[in-house]
Amino acid sequence: MKGFTYAAIVASAISGALAAPVEERGSPVEKRAVTLTGNPFASRTLYANSYYASEVSAAAAAITDTALKAKASKVASVGSFLWLDNIANIAKLEPELKLIKDGEIGGFVIYDLPGRDCAAKASNGELAAGDIATYKSSYIDPIVAIIKKYPNVALALIIEPDSLPNLVTNDDLATCQASADGYKAGVAYALQQLNLPNVAMYVDAGHGGWLGWDANLKPGAQMLADVYKTAGSPKQVRGFSTNIAGWNAWDLTPGEFSTTSDAQYNKCQNEKIYVDTFSPLLVAAGMPGQAIIDTGRNGVTGLRLEWGDWCNVNGAGFGVRPTSSTGDSLADAFIWGKPGGESDGTSDSSATRYDSFCGKDDAFKPSPEAGAWNQAYFEMLLKNAVPSF
Ligand code: BGC
Repeated sequence: MKGFTYAAIVASAISGALAAPVEERGSPVEKRAVTLTGNPFASRTLYANSYYASEVSAAAAAITDTALKAKASKVASVGSFLWLDNIANIAKLEPELKLIKDGEIGGFVIYDLPGRDCAAKASNGELAAGDIATYKSSYIDPIVAIIKKYPNVALALIIEPDSLPNLVTNDDLATCQASADGYKAGVAYALQQLNLPNVAMYVDAGHGGWLGWDANLKPGAQMLADVYKTAGSPKQVRGFSTNIAGWNAWDLTPGEFSTTSDAQYNKCQNEKIYVDTFSPLLVAAGMPGQAIIDTGRNGVTGLRLEWGDWCNVNGAGFGVRPTSSTGDSLADAFIWGKPGGESDGTSDSSATRYDSFCGKDDAFKPSPEAGAWNQAYFEMLLKNAVPSF
């Protein structure tokens, strides 16, 4: 991220249309409505949301080692995405929108589809498969109404991690079959309704170890593009997100799983190859193909027993900080998608949402429920951060 430069201010002034004065904290402040075109991260810093900052500050306060405590405090100012992972948590949105400044872009994850996390158990959501009506009226519509009050705030949205990829590769599961129509209709509705000038959207496309397999690439691109077209090809869709809550390295060569016996069937052995391969397929299928990549927890490689291992990988470290300097014209930005320190799933095998991936030998234990804070895991990410803090 290039930060708050004079050029950025001029650029945003040129791209922004004059809006009515906005009343903010008692005093009338003239602000400009934001219209996002091109790479929305190019002249903006990813906003460090106060929710994650408060989790991190509490974590830092609990550390006794003074050097580590100082490092922990620095994490609070790293930009990251905030997950609106249920209807109640929509309440987190508006207070943040009031704090996002010119030169910043707020990141939020839209994540509450009916029958969520259909191929796993750890992140099963609050809405049952089939309950698309509630998703629309009680989840997407209120979010849209809030965002419409802040046309002067630049926003990037990650749309429904894992959902469409699950429909490509897990359509043999009864749970994913039950979720399929709702995922497609729900994502299309989200893209349509959130298609606001100040919003840039990225539809989730899993990662190289998921849709990067030869047999999955084209069906994956087709799936995303079909839903995009069902939504009416909304112009604020910028492309796709990869590696959300994931562990893959950006351009490690040879890739981490390049020597496995089935590697011959997957050329996307790092996220860069995946982005460069998937993007043209998406464009050919009729959808924009710019990417954002989660580098929040991919600082250390070589930890997973198998490529598909996704839960609280032990030994992990924070990765590259959010930036639009990716060195790849197809990659808009490296971002922090998963808030490092929040769990991927519980290791308690008696819990309803226990997923066996969270009990594997390469998973950190003990770990709390998905989304809950894990202090020990946070400290590990911090100690193992690459680059270090
Ligand atoms: C959980 C969500 C949480 C998100 C970010 C997901 O795995 O299911 O509840 O908000 O991770 O930590």
